[in-house]
Amino acid sequence: MISGLDVKANEKQFIMLKEYMDSIKNTQGILMQTLHKAQEIFGYLPIEVQKFISCELDIPLSEVYGVATFYTQFSIEPKGKHKIGVCLGTACYVKGSQQVLDKLSKELDIKVGETTANGLFTLESTRCLGCCGLAPVMMIDGDVYGKLEPKKIPDILSKYEE
Ligand code: FES
Repeated sequence: MISGLDVKANEKQFIMLKEYMDSIKNTQGILMQTLHKAQEIFGYLPIEVQKFISCELDIPLSEVYGVATFYTQFSIEPKGKHKIGVCLGTACYVKGSQQVLDKLSKELDIKVGETTANGLFTLESTRCLGCCGLAPVMMIDGDVYGKLEPKKIPDILSKYEE
């Protein structure tokens, strides 16, 4: 698991976030807007960023953390270079997407929601991706893979490992 953010090396990003916060001062829903912006800037919401937001907005860190962990659009862990989303919608589930997910988990040695130690892959489950005819389906970044079988997984992953 990767953790910790080098605050000094990311000084510019903190300044950008501060400028954004100043620009939306006194507006409603400032915490949500700020978290969205922070996620856009940093790619995730590490504790250092949560503390910064807590101080700047004078909101308890527990509240910032609570919101950051409640909504699925936010992540407090860094995401991998490649995001894998396995559909667990009904059509895909019936056709074996759980086995595909299990195979990915085994090959990558991570659980759903985690990122590989080398920062290459993040494994996630998703709702229906809208291409049930191809079930079971997964997406890696913008690429759709359908009619999956667990045995196809190693070959597919190898395309992204270079
Ligand atoms: S249920 Fe998987 S794409 Fe629709």
